[in-house]
Amino acid sequence: MESSVMKNLGKDSSAYFATFGFVVASYVALKVAFNIIKILKFLVFAGSTNFKKLGSWAVVTGSSDGIGKAYAKELAKRGVNIVLISRSEAKLQEVANEIEKESKVQTRIVVADFSKGLELYDSIRDQLAGLEIGTLVNNVGMNYPFPSYFLDVADREEFFMKLINVNVTSVTMMTSIVMPAMVERKKGAVINISSAGGLHPFPLITVYSASKAYVTFFSRCIQSEYKSKGIICQCVMPYTVVTNMTMPFLVTTKRSEKGKPSLLKPSPTTYAKAALDSVGVSDFTHGYWAHNVQGTVIGMLPEGYIKMMTMSLGEKIRKINLEKMSKKKE
Ligand SMILES: NC(=O)c1ccc[n+]([C@@H]2O[C@H](COP(=O)([O-])OP(=O)(O)OC[C@H]3O[C@@H](n4cnc5c(N)ncnc54)[C@H](OP(=O)(O)O)[C@@H]3O)[C@@H](O)[C@H]2O)c1
Repeated sequence: MESSVMKNLGKDSSAYFATFGFVVASYVALKVAFNIIKILKFLVFAGSTNFKKLGSWAVVTGSSDGIGKAYAKELAKRGVNIVLISRSEAKLQEVANEIEKESKVQTRIVVADFSKGLELYDSIRDQLAGLEIGTLVNNVGMNYPFPSYFLDVADREEFFMKLINVNVTSVTMMTSIVMPAMVERKKGAVINISSAGGLHPFPLITVYSASKAYVTFFSRCIQSEYKSKGIICQCVMPYTVVTNMTMPFLVTTKRSEKGKPSLLKPSPTTYAKAALDSVGVSDFTHGYWAHNVQGTVIGMLPEGYIKMMTMSLGEKIRKINLEKMSKKKE
């Protein structure tokens, strides 16, 4: 009697395991199939958006360096005139000169500090008036100098408000300024540079991660509201791209620490070219094939494990930065 119960139990549990295994395998197979379809769609349609047709000008925020500069240069190569916006007039002028030389398009520069509040937007609105803007790249962003606990950030309240102004207010206000004319012309692209940190929570850069979650949700909602009105709103979520912003975060990888790009940590130029090719193909993307693979793999991991991984990576980077700082002081 007892042994037949045990036998049935054994049979039942192996049936449960088999069913569970089947469900997990089907889930993984479906995810992989879905991503293969996305990759195939990308291979067929990559680069199909004609930015010139959307409008003769593109506006790129945070474009004197890093990813923004690379977007500006790549858009210019595709025949679009460029408005560059950042804080440093000298750097902006230098990039404008490079673009005009390389691509024979017109450029304009707008000097603005997005960490300030609403007061800067009237001047930006005035300086953009009359331009046929087909593409807006909301790229400007600010991160922590290195990972820190929320309460340990120096001058934290002022720092967090600045970060929110740069990462959140700028995206909202620039879209509000530029999109009405796009809607009137029934065409335009708003490209918002979020971050993988706006998809998974990244502790120790808490306010940055939360600000990028705003950018992610903002982009997805705008896409739903305005797709039928001819607007492409793309949310781009890079993992690591080798720029000034990421240098303090690259201390765990010897190659990238020296500013050398790699497959998973590309240069801004490689990244921006791939990401621009994905406009009109994918509204919600990591922007570059290796980051899309990275996102697919990480997306299959349990949420708890991702949290543990991001926390321990943040801790490691934090410690190395603190050690470097104390060595410098000595
Ligand atoms: N690099 C990455 O691995 C990575 C990963 C995920 C997401 N992202 C996102 O990608 C975007 C670009 O990052 P990045 O790595 O290229 O940064 P970056 O190399 O530090 O460049 C930032 C650009 O923004 C400008 N800028 C900074 N603060 C500004 C302010 N207050 N007002 C106006 N302009 C300002 C800078 O020029 P000035 O200093 O002359 O003003 C520069 O042109 C950001 O939104 C970032 O969050 C980057």
